[in-house]
Amino acid sequence: MNKLEINDVRLKDHFTQLSSIGALPSGGYHRPAFSEADIQAREWLENKIVSAGLDYQMDGAGNQFGALGREDGLEPSILLGSHLDTVTHGGSYDGALGVLAALEVLETVRDAGVQLQYRLGLVNFSDEEGTHAGLLGSRAFCGLLNVEDLQQPNSGSEVFEKGIRRIGITLNSILAVSSKSFLPTVYLELHIEQGPILEKKSIRIGVVTSVVGIRTRKILFKGTAAHSGTTPMNLRRDAGYGACSFAKAARELVLAKFPKAVVNIGNLSIEPGSFNIVPGQAEVLLEFRSQSIREADEMEMMLRALAENIAASEKLRLNILESANIQPVGLSQKAQSAVATAADDLHLSSLMMLSGAGHDAQSMSRICSSGMVFIPSVGGISHSPKEFSKWEDCINGANVLLHSAMKSASP
Ligand code: HGY
Ligand code: MN
Ligand code: MN
Repeated sequence: MNKLEINDVRLKDHFTQLSSIGALPSGGYHRPAFSEADIQAREWLENKIVSAGLDYQMDGAGNQFGALGREDGLEPSILLGSHLDTVTHGGSYDGALGVLAALEVLETVRDAGVQLQYRLGLVNFSDEEGTHAGLLGSRAFCGLLNVEDLQQPNSGSEVFEKGIRRIGITLNSILAVSSKSFLPTVYLELHIEQGPILEKKSIRIGVVTSVVGIRTRKILFKGTAAHSGTTPMNLRRDAGYGACSFAKAARELVLAKFPKAVVNIGNLSIEPGSFNIVPGQAEVLLEFRSQSIREADEMEMMLRALAENIAASEKLRLNILESANIQPVGLSQKAQSAVATAADDLHLSSLMMLSGAGHDAQSMSRICSSGMVFIPSVGGISHSPKEFSKWEDCINGANVLLHSAMKSASP
């Protein structure tokens, strides 16, 4: 088994086929969860799973599975995967490489005629990117999703309901999902690093030790729309100024007080939005990430106080809506050593490292031994049409995934 190698020609062919779905003429990819392009990618995957002779199923959250090996539900059962959905104007490696490598591992094991003493599966988790709710599919699968998480979907109720109808699931079917559909004892995910570390250090494989926690908040500043020419500056209740002041001050606060954490203002929408109207309302999309719950709590407290002080000084009303609270997690030692040993066996340099990006593995680590394999991102760029990884690194990552899975199966 140790000499098994993935079929890189087949993997490349699948990658090329999938990369034609959701490609934007201006460059980049747009496959938001449950959109037409996401549906097309899902149908493509289902066809591949069925034509590969694997057992196919989709659960009530739209998570897609393929499997081979023992069906008697005995342990261990090993699940490999990631997500096919993308951010808007994203790249073709984030998530997709992990799902395709998982499919390739199953096909390689099938081709080798290995009589598996366990269940080996692949998964495409729904809506990892949070078009509707971050890590929607894997949180549902792990029993971590509550009805509150779906009451104010990021996409708005109309888009969300249209999307779930399109793939034939419902709010109730999402909340009713459980891991009983596969009962994994091990989860492994191949993913691009999405940062600059492996490339900078010329290391081939990242062995992920922990995954960052992510919190997102919608901050609404409400003032008074007024004539921009006749309203004296000291009488304005300018919501746009309040939002911009918050964006600048939030960055300064995190740089000064939380140097290991990050904060992002992903969007700032100002209304009514004309040259000659003092903004009556402004919404800020705030995201902050930390490897520790305690630090994230402290950040939350200080960011809220910042917003309150700005609202008070500009005589604005303030409303802060929680969107996602995804906890930081440590990944299992067993999975980490399986990945590190697999990299060594394949004579690939490796580095134990944190993940500053969120992943489905952080949901899965709450129910089973979970690990991640990183490969270098060129220029550390991701969530961008410029996202790129060298094909040799993709092959290395898929072979490390294959051998990590084999090692995880042996007692
Ligand atoms: O946002 C993230 O970290 C991940 O790419 N969803
Ligand atoms: Mn991803
Ligand atoms: Mn992503």
